[in-house]
Amino acid sequence: MTETLVERADLTRLVGESDLSIEIFDIPNHRLIHGRSFPIGIKPKGDLIGADLDTVLEYISSLAEKDVFNNILTQHGSILFRGFPIQEPEDLSKFTQAFKLPQIHQEVGLSGKRTTYAGGNVKTANEEPPDVKFYYHNEYGRSAHFPGVLFFFSQVVPESGGQTPLLSTIELYDRLREETPEFVDTLIDKGIIGRQYYPAKEDPESQTIGWNWQDSYGFTINPEDSLEEKRRKVEEVLKTRLQAEAEWQPNDALHVIQRLPAFRRIASTDQIVPFNGLGGVYGRQRDRQALKPPHRGIDGGIHLPTTYGDGSKIPQEYLEKLLSISDDIGFLVPWEEGDVAIVDNYTVQHARSPWVGKRSLLVSLWDGHERFLSV
Ligand SMILES: [Fe+2]
Repeated sequence: MTETLVERADLTRLVGESDLSIEIFDIPNHRLIHGRSFPIGIKPKGDLIGADLDTVLEYISSLAEKDVFNNILTQHGSILFRGFPIQEPEDLSKFTQAFKLPQIHQEVGLSGKRTTYAGGNVKTANEEPPDVKFYYHNEYGRSAHFPGVLFFFSQVVPESGGQTPLLSTIELYDRLREETPEFVDTLIDKGIIGRQYYPAKEDPESQTIGWNWQDSYGFTINPEDSLEEKRRKVEEVLKTRLQAEAEWQPNDALHVIQRLPAFRRIASTDQIVPFNGLGGVYGRQRDRQALKPPHRGIDGGIHLPTTYGDGSKIPQEYLEKLLSISDDIGFLVPWEEGDVAIVDNYTVQHARSPWVGKRSLLVSLWDGHERFLSV
């Protein structure tokens, strides 16, 4: 049997023959990882073709209750939904809720520019200019607090470019294991320390950088709080929500120090995967020419390096290797208007490719059912 036939049989088994109002479609150039398509496409079938949003939501909910999508996500990492009646942020908001995931993910430590729509669970992906490339990362992989499932909604497709790059960290693990086993072993052995720079809100550079420690971590700060009180509250959030530490700088900026494993084991499958923001941090740092202290980039931002967990430098050749393997195994989502991709943040990294023209890509972050164990 071809892989598509196997996948159709799997779907029929999960949904039940009589309830089958969706079907698998083949996404050109998809990757095949341990015999599974990555990503897998789903479109409406029979009565569901051309159905209104409420009908679609009711059907999706009924499958979500049977754990259909959790199963497919675990097997395939990402699902591209095409041909469903989703046009506005509110439609996406309702669509995401139909999957009955545990809860909307609350972001702690936002360091990007986002606008929120539709009651809080739909946001712009990132508002940096279209020529800015983002390297592969797990969403909040630099943090101890991260979402399990991501929805990406292609509301407006640009003239050219802008396809969202995805890679499977199952494949990334295989390749790193094969090509740089000593790098993998060191990362597993030592873990990593991520460092992030947050300027003070009052410092004009917070405008250039786009975020500051008070807005990213000061959920309990009152305007009349003293600086000491504000710092204490931020330290409390870092400690209790992220198991991270604060290092206050002479210019009142904050370095957030996050000690984390670089690889983790997925509880449901026992699969070991890289889960971190290593490539994202390094790629951006390199492109902004911020590799050397004080790590001030040509964009005006501060790009602090991630080190091994003992504080030692990660050799640049390994980070370059990580980027080249990532590019090699990446898949570009061929967005059409109205497409929604669901991504398992535990086994998939995403990136951003530049584009020309108008583009609207919205996201919704959710906590999922998956759990990590230590390697
Ligand atoms: Fe991201």
